[in-house]
Amino acid sequence: MTEGDVAATGTRQNYILGIDTSCDDTGVGIVSLEAGGAVQVRANRIWSQTVHAQYGGVMPELASREHVERIDEIVQGALAEAGLRLSDLTAVAATSGPGLVGALLVGLMYGKGLAQALDVPFYAAHHLEGHIYAAASEAELELPYLALVVSGGHTHLFDVQHAGEYRLVGATRDDAAGEAFDKVARLAGLGYPGGPAISEAATRGDPTAVPFKEPLQGQKGFDFSFSGLKTAALLASRAGARPDDLAASFERAAVSFLVKTTVRAARALGRTTVVISGGVAANQALRAAFAATDLRAVFPGKGLNTDNGAMIALAGAAAVQAGRAPSALTVGAEAYAPLANVEAQVD
Ligand code: KG4
Ligand code: ZN
Repeated sequence: MTEGDVAATGTRQNYILGIDTSCDDTGVGIVSLEAGGAVQVRANRIWSQTVHAQYGGVMPELASREHVERIDEIVQGALAEAGLRLSDLTAVAATSGPGLVGALLVGLMYGKGLAQALDVPFYAAHHLEGHIYAAASEAELELPYLALVVSGGHTHLFDVQHAGEYRLVGATRDDAAGEAFDKVARLAGLGYPGGPAISEAATRGDPTAVPFKEPLQGQKGFDFSFSGLKTAALLASRAGARPDDLAASFERAAVSFLVKTTVRAARALGRTTVVISGGVAANQALRAAFAATDLRAVFPGKGLNTDNGAMIALAGAAAVQAGRAPSALTVGAEAYAPLANVEAQVD
C-alpha cells in the first residue's frame, strides 16, 4: 500500500472482506470501516460442512474439496447480503493459520487472488486473533485487556497491552474447553456439537447432582485443565447419573473454573477488561457468570462466536485502521502458528 492509499483509507468508507477456511466451515464476512474507526458487520455467511458426520470427525481432504466447491457462492452470498459489488471492496483478509493446511490454503489462495485482481491490499490473519477481534463487533477493544479464547481447539489466556502483541499467561494442559463440552456431551448421549447440547440439557438438570472437583486447585499460575472433569463425568455416567444432571453439573464446574482463573489473572495483572471469544463464548452460563464479576466482559455478537469469516474481516479492519503494511502475497498456510509473540515476564 502506498502513502496515498493510507491517506485514502482515512477519508473514504472501507469495505473489508474476510475469509476463514481453517477447518470444516467456509466462512466469509464483510465489515465496513469508517474514517473514525467505527466498524460494522455487513455480512456473515457460513457453509457448515456436513459430509464429515458419517466419519465421526473432520476428514481434512474432504474439507478442502468442499471449501473449493463452495467458496465462490459464499463470497457472492456475502456480497449480496451487504448490498455490495466486488469492486466496492477495499481490502481482503484470510486466515493463514493455525488450522488444516489443505483447508486453509483454499481460503488463503482465494483471498490473495481476489485482492490481486481487485488491486487492493491483502492481510493474512491469525485464526485466534480473528476470534478475539470478533468482539470488536460489540465494543471497542480498549487496551490493555485480557483475552480468553475458548474454542474446540484452544483454551488460551492472553494479556494484550498493545495492539497485535499477545503475551500468553495461561493455557490448557490437556483438552480445550470446547473439546471437553463435546466429549462430555458424547458420553452422556447428547449429540454434537456438544456445547449447545450440554447447555440445552442443563436447563432440565440439577447442577448440584454430580460433584466435580475444581481442576488445578492451588496453582499459582493461570493454566486450565479439563481432563479431570471429563474423567469424573465418565465415572458419574457409568454410575448412572442422569444426562441432564450430568450436563448441568459439568457446565457449572467448567464455567466456574474458567471464570475464577480469569478473574485471578485479571487481579494479578491489574486488568479490568476481558474479551471472551471462541465457540464456548456462546455459552449463556459463561456469559452470566462473567457479568456477575466486577470485570468489564466483552463478548462477540450473535453468530460471531464459532468460526466465521466476519471475525477475519474485523481483524483485517483493525490492520487497515492501524495502517499496518499488507501481507506479502507469498505468505503460506501454517498448521501450527502460536499467537503469543511477547515473551512471558519472569516474576
Ligand atoms: O471456535 P469454534 O467454532 O471452533 C474452533 O476453532 O475450535 O468452537 C467450536 C467449539 C465446539 O467445541 C463447541 O462444542 C463449542 O465451541 N461451543 C460451545 C457452545 N457453542 C459452541 N460450548 C459451550 N457452550 C456453547 N453454547
Ligand atoms: Zn475457531
